[in-house]
Amino acid sequence: MILIILLLGILPGLSIAQNCSSCVSSGNSWCVESSQCNSTFVACKTLISLQLNCPARPDPRYAYDDNFMRTQQLALAAASHTTNPQLCFDNQTPTIKLFRVRTVSCYAANPNISCIGYTAYDVSQKVLILSFRGSSGDVQNQLMSAEMASGGLHSYFGNNGKIFKTIYDNFMFLWNGGIEQDLRSLKYKYPGFDLWVNGHSLGGMLSWVASSHLVTNGMYTPERIKVVAMGSPRLGDYDFSLWYSSTFPYSYHIVHRLDLIPRVPVIDPNTNTTVLYHPRTEVWYNNDMNPEDPYQICEETDGNYCSASVTEGLTWSDHGYYFNVYIPQWGKDGCPKNRRPYAQTQN
Ligand SMILES: *[C@@H]1O[C@H](CO)[C@@H](O)[C@H](O)[C@H]1NC(C)=O
Ligand SMILES: *[C@@H]1O[C@H](CO)[C@@H](O)[C@H](O)[C@H]1NC(C)=O
Ligand SMILES: *[C@@H]1O[C@H](CO)[C@@H](O)[C@H](O)[C@H]1NC(C)=O
Ligand SMILES: *[C@@H]1O[C@H](CO)[C@@H](O)[C@H](O)[C@H]1NC(C)=O
Repeated sequence: MILIILLLGILPGLSIAQNCSSCVSSGNSWCVESSQCNSTFVACKTLISLQLNCPARPDPRYAYDDNFMRTQQLALAAASHTTNPQLCFDNQTPTIKLFRVRTVSCYAANPNISCIGYTAYDVSQKVLILSFRGSSGDVQNQLMSAEMASGGLHSYFGNNGKIFKTIYDNFMFLWNGGIEQDLRSLKYKYPGFDLWVNGHSLGGMLSWVASSHLVTNGMYTPERIKVVAMGSPRLGDYDFSLWYSSTFPYSYHIVHRLDLIPRVPVIDPNTNTTVLYHPRTEVWYNNDMNPEDPYQICEETDGNYCSASVTEGLTWSDHGYYFNVYIPQWGKDGCPKNRRPYAQTQN
């Protein structure tokens, strides 16, 4: 037995019955189609060299539910665009009640730019909700890019990788500007409730930061949080995304067709070296996202997989429309029941 182990150890070309995880951790590559581990592949369609990309599906106890996303989570993300999110809840998800909206100035460089988050709760579903608005307007988008490039990535969650300083700062302005107080009040009143954290675009990145913060500061265990991001840029480095993906059992990143925002940034613009990744699990709708449209629950993450495999013809339009509704305007108008005026394509 010992002899066999020794022999296998000194013959790297010989493929031991392995899984992807043990294969890549020994420095080799894994071929998905042939389930083979090797140091040099001649031809393989889906080649994996990173732990983060080893094919995996979400735990069935935390399964993806298209209907839950297109009804509740969509309305929650859109509601951050109106001054009265309760209008969205009354029209779409009446059991949800608004607690408080927080609007804070979230860039030291320009006090005119705001970030918005709100808290809400639902006694019938036994959940608290924390939702973040996406960026609004060209000035904020330009400032975000500029600060990503100047501030780069930093560690905030122990040894669990790095994320963009500017996004962490945005979150902290909100957290210290009332979100912490509001969430603690709600948690005190409804101690057994789970937590949903969500947002579109920048709001999705803020959801990843918020959930990381809540878990590292001990306020929640990851099993009690459902995280839903839609159309979000990459937030952090490999170590962060690997930690996040293995920590949160319910974490979905929904990507619409050719939305260009989830394709950026590819590397840390501050150093031009560190490669960036999304947390798992991407769900890609390569269509209009109408009811019954198919979607792909991605088994890998960034690399040549799912939405990231397409780099041509990316659009802004697919960024604004999720589940065939234009999130910012629909939200601003209080999420009317008639979604047709907000649709990208009429079906
Ligand atoms: C892969 O194999 C290793 C060692 O054989 C084992 O410890 C691990 O649980 C396996 N992982 C999966 C995802 O099957
Ligand atoms: C595995 O690697 C060896 C050399 O290390 C190579 O000769 C062989 O063709 C590879 N097998 C596959 C399936 O690519
Ligand atoms: C903020 O808005 C005020 C009033 O419109 C304007 O005077 C000021 O220049 C703005 N500041 C920045 C940094 O854009
Ligand atoms: C990164 O690359 C961009 C574009 O090529 C360049 O403008 C910038 O100066 C580079 N930054 C560093 C820190 O090298």
